[in-house]
Amino acid sequence: MFEPALSVLLQTQVPNVHEFRITNIFKPLASPAAAERTAAYLVLAITAVIFVVVAGLICYTIVRFRRRPGDNELQEPPQVYGSNQIEAAWTVIPILIVFVLIGVSARVIAAIQNASPPPQSVKILLVGHQWWWEVRYPDYGLVTANEIHVPVSSDGKHATYLQLTSADVIHSFWVPQLAGKTDLIPNRINYTWIDPRQPGVYVGNCAEYCGTQHANMLLRVIAESSEEFNAWMSAQRKPANNSDTQLSAAQTVFGSLSCVNCHMIRGTSAIGAFGPDLTHLMSRQTLGAGVLVNNTENLRAWVNDPQIPKPGCLMPSMKLTGPELNQVISYLQSLK
Ligand code: CUA
Repeated sequence: MFEPALSVLLQTQVPNVHEFRITNIFKPLASPAAAERTAAYLVLAITAVIFVVVAGLICYTIVRFRRRPGDNELQEPPQVYGSNQIEAAWTVIPILIVFVLIGVSARVIAAIQNASPPPQSVKILLVGHQWWWEVRYPDYGLVTANEIHVPVSSDGKHATYLQLTSADVIHSFWVPQLAGKTDLIPNRINYTWIDPRQPGVYVGNCAEYCGTQHANMLLRVIAESSEEFNAWMSAQRKPANNSDTQLSAAQTVFGSLSCVNCHMIRGTSAIGAFGPDLTHLMSRQTLGAGVLVNNTENLRAWVNDPQIPKPGCLMPSMKLTGPELNQVISYLQSLK
C-alpha cells in the first residue's frame, strides 16, 4: 500500500528545493551570525584546549602506568589521598572557564536581542505555526508566509528586525548564515535581527522539534536591493487580482469550497487565518513551507492531497473531483 504513495512522493519532490545557499554557520553573511561565529570559535578553542589536556593526560597515564612484565598483579598500586592544592585547582579553574563561557554567550545574546531598531529599518512579526511561518510586516499592513523578503543591508543601515512568537508550540528561527537560533514561544515575544550583506536566497529551518513535520518547516529569506524590495512590497500589498472574467467560474468554485475557512485571499470572500495567506501565492518559490518547488505539477499534487508530500500536516485532502481540482488550480495560479 505504500508504493503508490511513495511513487507520488518521489515525483512531487523536486530535488532542487535546497539548491540555493548552502547553510554554513562558518560562512556568516550578516552581523548576528558573524558575532555568533566569533563566540563559537572562542568556545571551540577553549574546549579544544580542555580536550587536548584531558585526553593527553589520559594517554600519558595509560602509557606510563601500563602493565609491564614482572608486575605483581596482586599488589595494589600506591594509593594517594588528598591534596588541597590540586583539589582547589581543579575546582577553581573549571569554574572560571564556565564563567568565561557563560559571559561570552550572554554578551553575544544580549547584543543581538537588545539591539534597538533604527527608524528606517524593516520590522517583521514572525509567527510560528505547525508547520509553517506567518510573516507579518506591521508597518506595511502585509501578511505573507514562509518566504521573508528583506532589503540587503550592505551599508549596515537597512537591517531587518524580527519579533518572534508562536501560535501553538515552541518553534525556533534559524537561518544559519544570517542569525539564529531564536525560539518562537507562545505568549512571548523574542527578538532578533538580520542584515544580509549580499542579495540572495538564504535557507533556514525550524530548529526546535515541534511535531511530525518539524523537519519540513523550512524558511527562506530573500534579500534584495531596496528597489526590488519596494517593488515586491507594493505588488504584495495589492489585493488579489479578480478582474480576469475568464476565471470567475474558477473563483466561484474556490469560494464554495472550505479552503476559504482557513486561507486569506485579500479582496475575496476567503478570510481564513488558520493557514497561510494565499493572496499572492504565485509569487512564492515554494509550497508547503519549502517542501515543494512552486510549479503547476506540484501545486496540483499539493492541493489534491497535501498528506502525500507532507504527511501529518494540518491541511486535509479536500477530495476534490477532477474538474474542481482544475478550477482550483487555475484560480490559484492567477494569484500572482
Ligand atoms: Cu516548528 Cu520545529
